[in-house]
Amino acid sequence: MSRSAHPAGPRHADVLSEGHYAAPPADLNSLDPKVWAQTVTRDADGVVTVGGVPVTRLAEEFGTPAYVLDEADFRARARAWRTAFGQDADVFYAGKAFLSRAVVRWLAEEGLNLDVCSGTELATALSAGMPADRIAFHGNNKSAAEIERAVGAGVGRIVLDSFQEIVRVAHIAQSLGKRQRVQIRVTVGVEAHTHEFIATAHEDQKFGIPLAGGQAAEAVRRALKLDGLELIGIHSHIGSQIFDMSGFEVAAHRVVGLLREIRDEHGVELPEIDLGGGLGIAYTSDDDPREPHEIAKALSEIVTRECEAARLRTPRISVEPGRAIVGPTAFTLYEVGTIKPLEGLRTYVSVDGGMSDNIRTALYDAEYSVALVSRTSDAEPLLVRVVGKHCESGDIVVKDAFLPADLAPGDLIAVPATGAYCRSMASNYNHALRPPVLAVRDGAARVVVRRETEDDLLRLDVG
Ligand code: LLP
Repeated sequence: MSRSAHPAGPRHADVLSEGHYAAPPADLNSLDPKVWAQTVTRDADGVVTVGGVPVTRLAEEFGTPAYVLDEADFRARARAWRTAFGQDADVFYAGKAFLSRAVVRWLAEEGLNLDVCSGTELATALSAGMPADRIAFHGNNKSAAEIERAVGAGVGRIVLDSFQEIVRVAHIAQSLGKRQRVQIRVTVGVEAHTHEFIATAHEDQKFGIPLAGGQAAEAVRRALKLDGLELIGIHSHIGSQIFDMSGFEVAAHRVVGLLREIRDEHGVELPEIDLGGGLGIAYTSDDDPREPHEIAKALSEIVTRECEAARLRTPRISVEPGRAIVGPTAFTLYEVGTIKPLEGLRTYVSVDGGMSDNIRTALYDAEYSVALVSRTSDAEPLLVRVVGKHCESGDIVVKDAFLPADLAPGDLIAVPATGAYCRSMASNYNHALRPPVLAVRDGAARVVVRRETEDDLLRLDVG
């Protein structure tokens, strides 16, 4: 497997092109609305502002590096998904992309549901007041304690991921005197990333129960027999950063095939189908993601058509977008520390963060954009590599990008579209203190997740 293979399948990295930034953009000072949060703009002095707050003020007040989250944009995107799917479908925000109590409150207010995949994500959701019945609990190895907590809290659904778990959840629900609503996660043999998908007969991965070999049908058989479980539907998640809807089409076809088998064998029409998350966002100006209303329309047409063909009542659809909601709403603000031109090779620009706040470039070969945000510049474009301050040569934030040639230490630069899977996958490598998440709105900024301190780290180290 290639070094840059995506955990959900090797193709994610393979399809990313080399030499992405073949030509400099026409205007280095412009901010492409595709990759920047909605309220991002430059003020009269050329300083980038977000939610009406200049980044220079954010850096002064809160320090760098920092994740800066545009609250109005987050709410607008959440609302757009909710509205697009309407009353006959449910949108579960995938908390793994980024979860904090502020975000949970925004989601609750905007009418979204929440997908959590650990006991601690569940605790975060509950502590911020997300009603338990709007929470779905995921994971391929939920502990007994996590299951007890979820069932006890009354979560809306647990997504069953293995044969052992079917029995475990049934047992725990029964011992708590409850009947737990569950879905069974199946693997449909579709793997989709970016512009391509592969449909195979089987799938070699840890999640879900394969449709192949009648395994999913057997799981359904067992779940239907257990008093502690109320089987409400089938779940499928096919990949991430997907632009092409045809993978969903094959997945829906296969899931509906299972629904038909269930009807024929048990006389039961399961009322729900969850098609997971994975919808792509723009990391660079070359990406063209679809709007939520197009996605909702496409998915609903696919499921309706498949169900009509199978003569099944169309089930209620749910989806679990994480990246597509939070990804574009945040950027990471860094200060430039050193600039190292290597004659005949490239110029390295080092910032005060790196792979500890964004592991995606190192892990997936992910592409990002970057801009000088504390001022404008008329200098020539310079092809650079933006790197972090960690003791590792793979500590790359943006592989290839153009920044103005007069870039200098002390300048602020920002990497857009870092709302998803950056803070949530951040580490303390080299004892880095994980950056804060600042929410900006209507000219005001507030800390929603504070910066870690030396004391935080030393408290864990009990000596
Ligand atoms: N539902 C399920 C069952 C999932 O496993 C995932 C993501 C989602 C929903 C949300 O997917 P999204 O809409 O955010 O793509 N760390 C990787 C992504 C891993 C995704 C894992 N599952 C990355 O940074 O690209």
